Amino acid sequence: MSETAKFVLGDKTHEFPVHVGTENEKGIDISTLRGSSGYVTYDVGYKNTGATKSSITYISGEEGILRYRGYNIEELANKASFLEVAYLLLEGELPTASELSSFEEEITRHTLVNEKLKFVFDALPSGAHPMGQLMTMLSMFSAYYPEALNPHRSEEGRKLTIIRLLAKMPTLVAMIMKNKQGHPNVYPKNKLGYVENFLRMTFGHVTEDYTIDPVVVSAMNKLLILHADHEQNCSTSAVRLVGSSNANLYASVGAGVAALWGPLHGGANQKVLEMLEAIKDDGGDTDKWLNKAKDKNDPFRLMGFGHRVYKNFDPRAKIIKKSADEILEKMGINDPILEIAKKLEQAALNDSYFIDRKLFPNVDFYSGIIYRALGFPVEMFTVLFALGRLPGWMAQWKELRAEGQPIGRPRQIYIGTAERPFLDVNKR
Ligand code: ACO
Repeated sequence: MSETAKFVLGDKTHEFPVHVGTENEKGIDISTLRGSSGYVTYDVGYKNTGATKSSITYISGEEGILRYRGYNIEELANKASFLEVAYLLLEGELPTASELSSFEEEITRHTLVNEKLKFVFDALPSGAHPMGQLMTMLSMFSAYYPEALNPHRSEEGRKLTIIRLLAKMPTLVAMIMKNKQGHPNVYPKNKLGYVENFLRMTFGHVTEDYTIDPVVVSAMNKLLILHADHEQNCSTSAVRLVGSSNANLYASVGAGVAALWGPLHGGANQKVLEMLEAIKDDGGDTDKWLNKAKDKNDPFRLMGFGHRVYKNFDPRAKIIKKSADEILEKMGINDPILEIAKKLEQAALNDSYFIDRKLFPNVDFYSGIIYRALGFPVEMFTVLFALGRLPGWMAQWKELRAEGQPIGRPRQIYIGTAERPFLDVNKR
C-alpha cells in the first residue's frame, strides 16, 4: 500500500496521500486539508512546501546534485551548447542533429527586435540599471506581439512566442550594454551561433570587425548552461505564479527578471564583485569581513555564500571556480580579486559559523570574476544570469500551461486587529 501521512487535529485524524518522486523525494499532499479540517499549513518562505510536480530539473541539496531532464550539470556544461540545453529544457529531450539545426535556424530568424524599441532605450537614462531596462523591454514585447496575450493560443503560437523571446533576448541584452556605453547598436549576424552572435553584438563595434575568441565563447556558453534552470527558486516561482493567472509569457518572464534582481537571489553576482572590490580597497583583510558577516548586529552577509537548497556544496560553484582559473590563465589575466575570493572561501569553509550553518559558496561567488574577465561591467552581471535562466523560466511556464495548473494563491494567518467600529475623523 502506498504511504500516507496522518495529522491529528483535535479529536480527528486526517489522512493524506504521499507523492513520491523519481529520486524518492516525498511530499505530503495536503490539498484537501483546509476543506476537511479548516486548517492551513504555515511555512514562511516556503521552506518545506512543494509547489508543483515537475520533470525539468532535479536538485539534491544534500548530495550537491543538479540535473536537467536527468543529465548531470557537469556533463552538460562541458559537452553541450547552450541551445542544445535550451532545447532539452523546453522539449524534454536532447535534440538530434537535424532537430538542433532546425531549432538554431528558427532562433536565427527571430533575432532582430523592432526598430522602434530604440526610442524606448532613448527615453531611459544611460545610468538606468540593466535589470530595470530588461523589465521595461520585456513589457514592451507584450505591446509588439499582442497575440501572445491570448492564454488559449494554439500550441504552435505558444512555441513561436518562446522561440521569439529566446532569439531576441541576446539582442536586447546587447542593446542594454550599448545603451549604457552610449554606443550604436550592432545588429545580429545570422550566420553566427547564439553565443558568438551575442558576444559580437555586445563587444563588437559598428566601425570595425569583431574577432570571435573561442575561449570567450566557451566560457560564456558554460556560464549560460550553468544558469539555465534551478527548479522552484524565487524567480522561477515568480514566473509560475504570474503564469498561473494566465498572464502572457512576456509578463511572466518579466516577473522572473524582477525577482532575480534582488541581491539575495541573482543580484548577488553583482554584490559579490562589489564586496570583493571593497575588501581589496580596504587592504584585503578577509578575516575582518568574515567577522562582519558573522556579527548578528551587522546587516552585512557574505555575498555568494549560502543557499536555500544546497547544504553540502553548489555543484555549479565548483565548475565555475575551475573555469575562472582556466579562463583567467588562458586570457592572461592576473586578477587580484580572484585571490581575495579564494582566501575568503578558504577562511569561511574552515570557520565554525559557516560550517555549522552549512554555508558554502554558491553559483554567484565566482561567476562575476569570469564576467569581469570577459569585459562585462558589474551592473550587467544579473542580466547575464537572466539570459542564461530564460530557457528554464520558459520550460517551467510551458510545463505549467501544459498541465493546466490552477491559479497560485497562498493562504495566510491573519494577525491584525479584530473587527472594530469606524470612528468619525474628529473622534479618533
Ligand atoms: N553570510 C552570513 N550569514 C549567513 C549567510 C551569509 N551569506 N547566509 C545565511 N547566513 C546565516 C543566517 O544569518 C542564518 O543564521 P542564524 O541561523 O544564526 O539566524 C543561517 O545562516 C541560515 O540562513 P537563512 O537566511 O535562514 O537561509 P535561507 O535559506 O533563508 O537563505 C540565502 C538563503 C538567501 C541564499 C542566504 O544564504 C543569503 O542571504 N546568502 C547571501 C546572498 C546570496 O549569495 N544569494 C545568492 C543565492 S544563489 C542564487 O539565488 C542564484
